[in-house]
Amino acid sequence: MASESVVLVKRYQSTQRLIHWLGVPTFLTLLISGVVLIASPLAPLAAGGITRQIHRIAVVPFMLLPILYVVLNPKQAMELLKESFTYTRDDIAWFKHMPAYFLGRTKGLPPQGRINAGQKLHHAATFMMFNFIAWSGFVLWFGKGQLGYDVLAITAMIHDLSMLGLTVLMIGHLYFTLVYDALTGMLRGYVTKEYSEMEHPKWVEEKPENQFIVKEKK
Ligand code: HEM
Repeated sequence: MASESVVLVKRYQSTQRLIHWLGVPTFLTLLISGVVLIASPLAPLAAGGITRQIHRIAVVPFMLLPILYVVLNPKQAMELLKESFTYTRDDIAWFKHMPAYFLGRTKGLPPQGRINAGQKLHHAATFMMFNFIAWSGFVLWFGKGQLGYDVLAITAMIHDLSMLGLTVLMIGHLYFTLVYDALTGMLRGYVTKEYSEMEHPKWVEEKPENQFIVKEKK
């Protein structure tokens, strides 16, 4: 049986992938239980306090997973945070190209580093929304009975709008993952060299050590 050499590029470590995938059911549990708690037509489902308990239990991994990221992958966590808030001229050019990118067109795509400008925006917004949700959530949890109605109402609005923001971001995130077939990076930890050179050419050039060769049976 003949075999062919294929060049792959290491993208995510196993601990990064584990944290990402534990984060998805955690987020969905918070979202679904949260909707049940605030939507009056779903009030019968929230009766008995079980939904509130589920929502509060899911807060534990929601808070712990980013901390675990910093503990297990401090270098990657800092890199992610720094890159998400640093925008270059190529990123501005990338945003101009975004309507075509949205439609799956990559001809003339401005060169990008490890994460493209759209991912930077997604990750930065995720970081900010996470903070809004966590702080407002704790105020709602522990502030009842101590804070006035107006303060609690504004806090609930911040909490709910931030969760809505994260949900919209997740839909966009899912859309681009599927359109550009990016899932292997987060599932198996590597992507093809062709994909990396199209999406992240500056990163491929900067980090040639991430590339490795595998033999595929034909
Ligand atoms: C089923 C749902 C999801 C899928 C299929 C998915 C898929 C992916 C993929 C493929 C990547 C890697 C992209 C790359 O090559 O750089 C990624 C990264 C990331 N995703 Fe998701 N994702 C999902 C849900 C979420 C949710 C709900 C959040 C946050 C609320 C999220 C936040 C992130 C972040 C922050 C990264 C960057 C991770 C890092 O650099 O360590 N994802 N996702």
